[in-house]
Amino acid sequence: QQKAVAPTPPMGWNSWNHFRGKVDDATIRSTAEAMVSSGMRDAGYVYVNIDDTWEGERDAQGNIHSNEKFPDMKALADFVHSKGLKLGIYSSPGAKTCAKFEGSLGHEQQDANTYAAWGIDYLKYDLCGLRDQMKAAGSAEAAHKVMFDAYMKMHDALRATGRPIVYSLCQYGVDSVWAWGPQVGGNLWRTTGDINDKYARMAEIGFSQAGLSRFAGPGHWNDPDMLEVGNGGMSAEEYRTHMSLWAILAAPLLAGNDLSTMTEETKAMLTNRDVIAVDQDPGGRQGDRIDAEGPIEVWARPLEGGAVAIGIFNRLSVPLEAHVNFRKAGFAGDVRARDLWRGTDLGRLPAEYSVQVPGHGVIFLRVTK
Ligand code: GLA
Repeated sequence: QQKAVAPTPPMGWNSWNHFRGKVDDATIRSTAEAMVSSGMRDAGYVYVNIDDTWEGERDAQGNIHSNEKFPDMKALADFVHSKGLKLGIYSSPGAKTCAKFEGSLGHEQQDANTYAAWGIDYLKYDLCGLRDQMKAAGSAEAAHKVMFDAYMKMHDALRATGRPIVYSLCQYGVDSVWAWGPQVGGNLWRTTGDINDKYARMAEIGFSQAGLSRFAGPGHWNDPDMLEVGNGGMSAEEYRTHMSLWAILAAPLLAGNDLSTMTEETKAMLTNRDVIAVDQDPGGRQGDRIDAEGPIEVWARPLEGGAVAIGIFNRLSVPLEAHVNFRKAGFAGDVRARDLWRGTDLGRLPAEYSVQVPGHGVIFLRVTK
């Protein structure tokens, strides 16, 4: 396992959620610039990741080339590196990617070598195109082996390049990937299908992650998909729920919005130091659900030094009063708490605490004894 490249969940940006196929060299350059000028880089966002649709043709020797949207990948990587950032790319273990561009099947080592020569630092490897081979395998076991071997092959290929490259497995939780992801060297693995910019889908994904905490740790993380913060389909309250849940889940924080046009409110949310500190806690222990009462869910993440991040979520669209018992988070009695979104210290709170939670919202606390 390449523990060194992802000691905490990777942070950065990915082109897919906002730009889809409309991503090119200029998009990546302006994103890198905005990542620096917005303060996101200094808040910890490092990877600038190109998703599907960059792929061009293979030449007579089988070497992959980028298409007309990316005239010179090496020059682009140099530019991104000059900003103190890293560049990510995308491929599939199948013959084709999800968007039907060229995949890596049969060219794994050659592609890994090309990525390393360009200066790529992160690969998202998306199952899509391998599904035909899996179906043809005949049985569930045989299909699993096709998938496992394909992911192992690219892991070995990346390792053989000698370049540290984050390895992101994208296969939507197929065959409980959290159970085998570390064996194929995955630094992160998608646990679900695709997110979209609606509260219902974000919440469906986020709250479904209960029970997965023991599979994550330094170097290998559960990935409930990229952020939608700032894309416009959710309220500020809902985006705070999104960020809070992802931080408790020790999820990769890959912004998915247009960084060069984002509002001050979006920027403030994405760069909230207290929330990022929860996500990036050096202990690397993922949080989990500790209590639920109808639409109120309480999630907790143990942090280094004995503090606990506690999210009190309201899944209904109207405000509700929540009752929290801090003893369920391991405390003996009353506690000291900080409100991470308001940025205020709340002083001491009783062991049994009641608080009003906005509709679809969260009260996100850092609690100590
Ligand atoms: C799949 C992935 C997405 C994105 C697209 C690109 O749907 O899950 O994250 O990479 O493919 O085609």
